[in-house]
Amino acid sequence: MNILHAIRQRFRPALERLPLDDVGPFLEMIKPSQDPRFGDYQANCAMPLSKVLKQSPQEIAAMLIGSVELDDLCEKSEVAGPGFINLTLRTDRLASLLHEALLSDRLGVEQTCRPLTFVIDYSAPNVAKPMHVGHIRSTVIGDALAKILRFLGHQVITDNHIGDWGTQFGMIIYGYKHFLQKAAYQENPVAELSRLYQQVNRLVQHHRYLRQIPELQKRQTELEAERETFCKETAEAERSKSQRKQLKRLENQIRDVRAEVENAELQVRAVQDDPTMGPLTAEHPHIERDVLQETAKLHAADRKNRELWDQFMPLALAELNRIYQRLDISFDHTLGESFYQEQLAPLVSDLKERGIAEESDGAVCIFSDDHDVPMIVQKKDGAFLYATTDLATINYRIGTWHPDVILYVVDHRQSLHFEQLFSAITKMDWGPVKLCHIKFGTVLGEDGRPFKTRSGSTVGLESLLDEAVRRAALVAEENNAESDESANRSIAEVIGIGALKYADLSQNRESDYVFSYDKMLALNGNTATYLQYAYARIRSILRKADIDLSALQNSQTVIGMEHSAERQLGLAILRFAEALTLVEADYRPNHLTHYLFEELAKSFSHFFEQCPVLKAETSDVREQRILLCTLTAKTLKTGLSLLGIDVVEKM
Ligand code: ARG
Repeated sequence: MNILHAIRQRFRPALERLPLDDVGPFLEMIKPSQDPRFGDYQANCAMPLSKVLKQSPQEIAAMLIGSVELDDLCEKSEVAGPGFINLTLRTDRLASLLHEALLSDRLGVEQTCRPLTFVIDYSAPNVAKPMHVGHIRSTVIGDALAKILRFLGHQVITDNHIGDWGTQFGMIIYGYKHFLQKAAYQENPVAELSRLYQQVNRLVQHHRYLRQIPELQKRQTELEAERETFCKETAEAERSKSQRKQLKRLENQIRDVRAEVENAELQVRAVQDDPTMGPLTAEHPHIERDVLQETAKLHAADRKNRELWDQFMPLALAELNRIYQRLDISFDHTLGESFYQEQLAPLVSDLKERGIAEESDGAVCIFSDDHDVPMIVQKKDGAFLYATTDLATINYRIGTWHPDVILYVVDHRQSLHFEQLFSAITKMDWGPVKLCHIKFGTVLGEDGRPFKTRSGSTVGLESLLDEAVRRAALVAEENNAESDESANRSIAEVIGIGALKYADLSQNRESDYVFSYDKMLALNGNTATYLQYAYARIRSILRKADIDLSALQNSQTVIGMEHSAERQLGLAILRFAEALTLVEADYRPNHLTHYLFEELAKSFSHFFEQCPVLKAETSDVREQRILLCTLTAKTLKTGLSLLGIDVVEKM
């Protein structure tokens, strides 16, 4: 049962009898209380209601207490201070809810009474390029949301919209045609394709940088001249606050452009000084254009390029699946961009016919009042775009799965794309569907800049997993979990991958976060490692208890919770459902990590300090405490599993 929800439901009729337009916001003011001295839950709606009803908040609070039926739930409901309503739950009710949770395989969490169909679009890497740290976020957040929504009783369809039709294939095809090392390809095709991609990409970037440097330098000179004029015209001592701000902004711009120039020059030099790459830059002066042509030929069904694509795709997918397997993540569907290619031309004609899209400067665009720039669905040269495929994808998803909601778990840098896409959809009559961009921020290095390797390239996802697991092995070794090496290895895999996932999920997804192995594997703090350790410790207590657990669980033993630390833990266990409802409301898995760490694990550790379990004063109390331990372990395990994180019995 979701206690908070139940209390709100009790208040609802009483509020509905009042002359209010919407009781929703007042119901939201019923919350768990922050301090046990003020009861378990608090209703803080009397103060704002007093403004509407022109009555004192104390009177309103007293009236609400008088008219809300709470006796079976609360042992105390009282007005405090300026009109707070403090609610204290009945301990016997808590005990019976805990008993239900013990016997339930879902800890007594009810399924939603309004099940929806969700399509979740997440992970979606561009294949045949190595996956990097940025892909962790979408993959891990999307997977957790899928698991939590499913657990709550929604129908969830996961669809990995991989980028399997983009310019990276032009690069690989170009590389294959010009730079292939046959023996290497035979030996390890994936590694060779990845090398080809990187080599071509570096050359393309090189030419791009060469073009950019003079432009950037020009911009730098302009900005510096602007600063000079500004300083001449406004004497330093007389500058107003806004002028000082303006100067600061200018200086920041100069600093950024300078950094860009330096970086571009550095990259250019690195390629030129490289004995293999250096000569290639002159031998392939038109590589940018040629790569685009290879992609265009693939899209135009050129036989050779299509054959190569068919040859590369299974390799790229196998590589991808290897990583998903390691992350223990799977999808219901993997319908990549290529799946929609046949549908793009008819879609664009249809949009034109219906007047939704129009030609502008030779391109086909969808205009909207909300955006200055239109969404282009077909370029001048006839090529379709990312947005075109996304439109076709929505059409397909609506037609095939009839979802109520589609969630896109994608980097916040694509916000404009999704805003334009969603606004375009309002013009179609494809049926009602709610589209949500579930944005997330950037993974930063300890220097506060986007996470890169020392040489400045992005960090491969696999090397991250390896390093996390390597360090986790040290943690496991220190704790001397198992003497057996292979057991230790699998423990390290669970701890390492868990740490990585949890570090990501415990952030408010919209913020950037700093990637740190030390922090994510800390044995104390808000980490998976800490929670896994808490779990393993409880399991070890239960083993030592030497008791028939299933008989005890099925017995009529009442968890009395006479000690306040027991009661606090009991309540924390029961609040699992509330944490899941919070995730459901705004698609932020960090509500669940917060609950597991701040409420459940902390209450447990307080309980464990205060209340001896195995050496409890009586055998009755011992049994009750063992049951509290059992429930805590079960909640930790279920909660972590909904985040895609495993536990170990020993660590
Ligand atoms: N492949 C894209 C990228 O790596 C992400 C795709 C997200 N999903 C979508 N339907 N647009 O940036």
